[in-house]
Amino acid sequence: MQRGSFENHLFGRGSTVQPLPWDIRLKIAIGAARGLAFLHTSDKKVIYRDFKASNILLDGSYNAKLSDFGLAKMASASQSHVTTRVMGTYGYAAPEYVTTGHLYVKSDVYGFGVVLVEMLTGMRTLDNGRPAAQRNLVDWVKPYLANRRKLKNVMDPRLEGRYPSKAAAQVAQLALTCLGTEQKTRPSMKEVVATLERLGDIKERPKVPRIHNSSPRSPYPNGQQPLRHRSPLHVKEDVSQRSQDSPKGS
Ligand SMILES: Nc1ncnc2c1ncn2[C@@H]1O[C@H](COP(=O)(O)OP(=O)(O)O)[C@@H](O)[C@H]1O
Ligand SMILES: [Mg+2]
Repeated sequence: MQRGSFENHLFGRGSTVQPLPWDIRLKIAIGAARGLAFLHTSDKKVIYRDFKASNILLDGSYNAKLSDFGLAKMASASQSHVTTRVMGTYGYAAPEYVTTGHLYVKSDVYGFGVVLVEMLTGMRTLDNGRPAAQRNLVDWVKPYLANRRKLKNVMDPRLEGRYPSKAAAQVAQLALTCLGTEQKTRPSMKEVVATLERLGDIKERPKVPRIHNSSPRSPYPNGQQPLRHRSPLHVKEDVSQRSQDSPKGS
């Protein structure tokens, strides 16, 4: 795939790797979430089992495609699959799968939550190069996700503050629900898609003064026009060239 994997972009270094702007990150998350939602709602309820940033491949327009179906499993009638040998990838695998070998559709949702945290922070789920207390990203960062002010401290510095803080806080909140220890409490991927799509809409709403009276004066002084609505799902490839929203204070 032309643009490699989400992993390459989030954690890659070197002059060829441009930091991904917020809009593109959200677009990729939505694309990947739709992929999982599709598998989960198909007749056979496929559990993907190896959801992680390196398995999200990107085409030239940052459309996400899930790769590596080698570990995918059909969920049985009970929606759970038991394996004696735990596969998947450590750091993304859901706790019930790691400890009991029980695999659910919602085990994929946990992995999705991990990728959301990686997308917010620009840090890998596991990194032995970090101090001991920070090696496991989810354990370390969880307390920061619930609070918008705290969240700022762990957001990816490569975003340079260029992200809508309200949307970021909602992604963090969503990640927390995906990371629920009890599989049943996690949202379905369909719900995740709906939440992420709403965030894209909120972000793109043009910021124009609300004028409710019938004044003939234009609400846009100096001939200014309101920003045109532009869906984040149709971002042009040169999105990094566009001016970004400045971060809003919380
Ligand atoms: N078709 C592809 N196009 C671009 N990059 C790919 C493709 N397949 C795999 N990669 C990248 O190559 C690397 C190794 O992939 P893989 O062997 O699947 O291991 P893993 O996904 O466990 O890291 C990853 O960074 C992955 O994103
Ligand atoms: Mg792979």
